[in-house]
Amino acid sequence: MITYVDAAAKARRTPGVIPLHGEEGFAGMRKAGQLTAQALDILTEYVEPGVPTATLDKVAYEFARDHGAVPATLFYKGYRHSLCTSLNHVVCHGIPDERPLREGDIVNIDLTLIVDGWHGDSSRMYPVGELSRKAERLIEVTYECLEAGIAAARPGNHTGDIGAAIQALAEGERMSVVRDFVGHGLGRLFHDEPNILHFGTPGTGPEIKPGMIFTIEPMINLGRPHVKILSDGWTAVTRDRTLSAQCEHSIGITETGCEIFTSSPAGLFNPLAARAAN
Ligand code: MF3
Ligand code: CO
Ligand code: CO
Repeated sequence: MITYVDAAAKARRTPGVIPLHGEEGFAGMRKAGQLTAQALDILTEYVEPGVPTATLDKVAYEFARDHGAVPATLFYKGYRHSLCTSLNHVVCHGIPDERPLREGDIVNIDLTLIVDGWHGDSSRMYPVGELSRKAERLIEVTYECLEAGIAAARPGNHTGDIGAAIQALAEGERMSVVRDFVGHGLGRLFHDEPNILHFGTPGTGPEIKPGMIFTIEPMINLGRPHVKILSDGWTAVTRDRTLSAQCEHSIGITETGCEIFTSSPAGLFNPLAARAAN
C-alpha cells in the first residue's frame, strides 16, 4: 500500500510513504538545483586530457564553500568526496583520484549540493577530447532516455511508466538499462520515497501526483546490464567492461507535468550536444 503525506510533516524516510511538497519545497529545490547546475556548468571547462578527477572534486568543494552550500556526498555513509566521477565502464559512484583523464574518455560527474537544507542532485556526461562513434552514440541515447522518462513524469501516470519509456528506448537501440541503482525522492532528505526504476511495466508502481519531488537518473550500458562493486566498496562497474553512461535531473511534479530543478543556466546539460552546436 502506498500513502502520500504532506512533506512538511515527514522528517525521515518511511517505506511506502511518499511526501508531497508545496511551494516552499519547490522554491527550495529550485535554488539548490540551480546552484548544482551552475557548478556542473563550470566543471565543463575543467574536463580535459591530463586533468585528474581529483581536480574536479576540488573545484566542486571550493564552489560549494564559496556559495554557502554543502556537498551532500561529503561524509555520506563514509564517502569522502564532494562528487562522483564515473569513467568509461564505471556505472556510478566512481571515486575522484589522481589519474589523469585521457583523450576519448567519457566521464559522468554527479553532484548534489545542499542549499538551505534542500538537495539539488544532478549528473551529466562529459566528453574528454574526441570520442569514438559508439561512445557518442551511448551518450546520445542516455540523454534521450532521461528525456523520455521526464516526458512520462506527469500526474495520472505511474512511476512504472517512467521506467517503461526508458527501457523501451534503450533496448530499441540494443543497449541495456542497469537494474541495481534507481532514481529517488529527495528534498530535505537526500534519498526518500519513491524509488524510480529505469525499467518496468506501464501502469505499475505508485501513481504520480503533483507535489512529488524525485530524480530520474538512468544508467545505460553498451553491453549487458550487470554490474559489480569494486573492493573500495563504492565503484560500480559493468561486469562485461563495456561502456556505461548516466545523466540525472531533479524534478518536481506539477499539475500538468513537471518542473526540472537542475536545468543548465548555460545550456550545457548535454556537453556533447552543446559542443556540436558551436
Ligand atoms: N548522487 C548520487 C545519486 O544520484 C548518490 C551518490 S552517493 C555517494 O543518488 F556516496 F556515492 F556519493
Ligand atoms: Co546524483
Ligand atoms: Co540521485
